[in-house]
Amino acid sequence: MPTVALPSIGTDAAWRAAARAHLGAGTPPEALHWQMDGGGDLFAEPAAPLPEAAPVTVPRAFAALAGTVVWHRDPERFARLYALLWRLRTQRGALQDRADPAVARLWKMDKEVHRDLHKMRAFLRFREIGAPDLPRRRFAAWFEPGHHIVEPIAPWFANRFGDMDMVILTPDLTLSIEDRRVALSPGQAKPPLPDDAHEALWTTYFRNIFNPARLKVKAMQAEMPKKYWKNMPEASAIPDLIAGAEARVRQMQAAAPTLPPARAAKITERWMTETQEPPPADSLEALRRQAEGCTRCALHGPATQVVMGEGPRDADLMIVGEQPGDQEDLMGRPFVGPAGQLFDRLAEEAGLDRAGAFVTNAVKHFKFQPRGKRRIHQRPGADEVQACRWWLDAERALVRPKLILAMGATAAASLTGTGAGLLKRRGTWEAGPDGTPVFLTLHPSYLLRVPDASARARATDDVRADLAAVQARVQALRAA
Ligand code: URA
Repeated sequence: MPTVALPSIGTDAAWRAAARAHLGAGTPPEALHWQMDGGGDLFAEPAAPLPEAAPVTVPRAFAALAGTVVWHRDPERFARLYALLWRLRTQRGALQDRADPAVARLWKMDKEVHRDLHKMRAFLRFREIGAPDLPRRRFAAWFEPGHHIVEPIAPWFANRFGDMDMVILTPDLTLSIEDRRVALSPGQAKPPLPDDAHEALWTTYFRNIFNPARLKVKAMQAEMPKKYWKNMPEASAIPDLIAGAEARVRQMQAAAPTLPPARAAKITERWMTETQEPPPADSLEALRRQAEGCTRCALHGPATQVVMGEGPRDADLMIVGEQPGDQEDLMGRPFVGPAGQLFDRLAEEAGLDRAGAFVTNAVKHFKFQPRGKRRIHQRPGADEVQACRWWLDAERALVRPKLILAMGATAAASLTGTGAGLLKRRGTWEAGPDGTPVFLTLHPSYLLRVPDASARARATDDVRADLAAVQARVQALRAA
C-alpha cells in the first residue's frame, strides 16, 4: 500500500497537497497509508511520490475543518479526513450530517484542537532569560500541549507579543520568535528554566483577581485542568484560595466599592448602520470557536482571548455591556470583574435573574493601554464597535432574545445606532435591531466612577430600578 509521509513541520500544507493529488488521481482511501515522519511503522512501504493529477476543488467547510483536525494527536487523523473528502465527491452534504459517526468524530477532534489552542494561549507562562543589556527582552516557556498545535499557534504568539523575543519549548516542537520571525525546530525534554521574580507577582495577581463569590471548583477545573497547574506558578495558590473562599466572600460583602478615576466624555459619534450577514455558525460553541480567529479589527492582537457571551441559549433576556475588562480578558468570561460584581449585587437586589439571561458585550476583546504592570481600560472606537457588531448580531441570531438590556453608551450605540444622551434616555425602551425592544440603563462601571457619593447613590438607585423594570417585563412576557 503506498505510504504518504507527512513532515512534522509544515504538516498542514503537505497534507493538503497530498490529499488533493490523490483525490485528483482517484486513489481510494483504502489504498493509502498516511503517517507523520518518524511514524515508526515497520510494515509501511517507503513514501511514494505524489501522483500527477488535474486540480480538484475541495469544499470550503471541509478545508476549514481539515485545517484544524490535521493538528490533532490521533494517528488516524489524515486517513479519517481523506475518507471524508473522498465521500464528499458523491455526498456533498455529508459534512453537515452530525449523526454520522465518522463526521461527528472529526467535529469532536476539531473542538478538541480549538480547546487546546485556547489552553495554550491562556496557561503558558514565560520566564525572562535575556541579559539586561539586550535591546529586546527575551523569554522562554515550557508547555505540554495536548495536540500538535505549536505550528498553528505560532503567528498568534508572534503578533501578541511583538515586542518580545521568545523560545517556547514543547516535547513536539520548539518555537523561536525573533523580531516577529517564526522558526520551528524539533521538540525537546523539559529544560531547567531560571527562577523568575515575576512568579511571585503572578501569584499575587492571581490571588487578587480570584473572585471567591463566584467560585465553582468543578467549573474552574474544567476550564483550567490540573495537568496545566504544574507549569503555572500562580496555581500553587489555588488550594489555599479555595479553602479561604467563604471567609473572603463575607469580607467582600462587608467592604464598600472603591472609586476609580472619573469617566471620560460620552460617546458622541453615530455608528454605521448594519451591513453584514450573521455567520453560519449553528451553535454558541461553534460561534466562540469562530470568534477565536477573529481579525475584524486590531483589538484581537493585544487581548489575551476573545470573550463571548454566556447564558442559556433560549434566554428571553440578553444583557449587553461594553467590552471585557482586565479580569474578563484573563478569565474568558463576561462581567466577572468589579463591574460584574456590582452588577450581580444590583441584579440580586432588583430580583433580576442573571443566570437566566444571556450576558454579553458589544465588543468581544479587551481594549487597553499598558501602563507599567497595569492595563488601563480604553473605550472602544466606533469602528471597533461596528466591526464587532457582527458577533453580537450572530449571538442575537442564535439566542433570539425577546428583550435586550443595554448597559452603557457603547451597548446603546451598538443596539440602537446612538449612545448619545444616555443619562436622559436611561430607564426607557427603544426599538433595537429587528424591532427587539431594548431597555437602556447606565453601565455598572459608571456607578463605580461617579465621584460624588450622593450622585452615586442616586445613579445606583436608578440602575436598580431599571433592572427591576426589566425583570417585571420579563415576567410579564413569560406569563403572557
Ligand atoms: N464591563 C463590561 O462592559 N463588560 C464586561 O464583561 C466587564 C466589564
